[in-house]
Amino acid sequence: MAKKHQAARPLQTPSSAYTSSTDTGLSSLPVSEEKISALRHQLLTWYANSGRDLPWRRSRDPYQIWISEIMLQQTQVKTVIPYYERWLKALPTVAALASANQQTVLKLWEGLGYYARARNLHQAAQQVMAEYGGEFPPSLAGALALRGIGRTTAGGILSAAFNLPAAILDGNVKRVLARLIALPAVPNRALPQLWALSEQLLDPQQPRDFNQAIMDLGATVCTRHHPVCLICPWQTHCTAYNQNAVTDFPMTSPRPPLPHKQIGVAVITDDQGRILIDRRKQEGLLGGLWEFPGGKIEPNEGVEECVSREIKEELGIEIEVGTRLITIEHAYTHFKVTLNVFNCKHLSGEPQPLESDEVKWVTLDEIDQYPFPKANSQIIDAIRRQAESG
Ligand code: ADE
Repeated sequence: MAKKHQAARPLQTPSSAYTSSTDTGLSSLPVSEEKISALRHQLLTWYANSGRDLPWRRSRDPYQIWISEIMLQQTQVKTVIPYYERWLKALPTVAALASANQQTVLKLWEGLGYYARARNLHQAAQQVMAEYGGEFPPSLAGALALRGIGRTTAGGILSAAFNLPAAILDGNVKRVLARLIALPAVPNRALPQLWALSEQLLDPQQPRDFNQAIMDLGATVCTRHHPVCLICPWQTHCTAYNQNAVTDFPMTSPRPPLPHKQIGVAVITDDQGRILIDRRKQEGLLGGLWEFPGGKIEPNEGVEECVSREIKEELGIEIEVGTRLITIEHAYTHFKVTLNVFNCKHLSGEPQPLESDEVKWVTLDEIDQYPFPKANSQIIDAIRRQAESG
């Protein structure tokens, strides 16, 4: 909980405590050596007592740590753990990942979202085999040259696997640092300054533990809505805390509402009860995953009309659009969708992949072998329920 009253000690403002004043108040960060060493010591002591025991922290294998870091981009620890364990059983080495087929990789990722992460990981494993003899490169430049690895992921992997002093700056760390200095800007508009601060604070003797510790601090103590400042090892140094304004930081910019798309989707069956699915093109959202065909409802178009038009355009076949199977609401990062899903019957024509990479007739027993986006798995559940109820 943030404290209710101003501390008796003098306020530490960004300009007096950590920064020189400029546009953002942050172009340089002269934090005294004494303060840095106190911050390191307090954080590492807290971590030794209160850090989380997470599966990837027991490993020093760069491959295992790399997998965890990619899965943890935009996804919470508790969601990642079962995926991480299943992945390493199926693909225990970088060589195994490099030689796996993409469908296996996407199936292991199914439900985690942001599928480009899985496609990039797969390609990067092939890069590691081809260019580094199967060994993860133990340098910032080498790590950054791999697909899907940016600066914070590189820092996470290099510090955890090799104990190299490479800083990190993920969402949790941005929040912790923004509060520590009461950053007078939206973090994404002060990245050079935040990177400089993360680098300056990083303990060169114990970079592995320091990075894990600051991530844990952000995830378990310095949380966005309910920070537990009373147990925070950095409480006395935290400018936002000392201003009694912890939840005012990090600053945010107002976001316009997400656009909302209405989509018509067809579950097409043939006279043998098989269902038609298509594999999305590699480029773009959900690339390489399977789906039930359909598309966006045009202005002034009825939903059944849309389904029948889309199927003609995408697959070159005629269908009969029947009853509504299910309606699904789903939010992606940049937009929301409503999937209006209809039971349809195949009438004529051989399905062709006119706007996809592949089309296939599958039975309900076979369908689980194919990787689908989350919203589409709800459609599969609905088909099963419908089939069971006769
Ligand atoms: N988020 C990114 N990397 C992480 C790690 N190593 N532990 C916990 N959360 C993380």
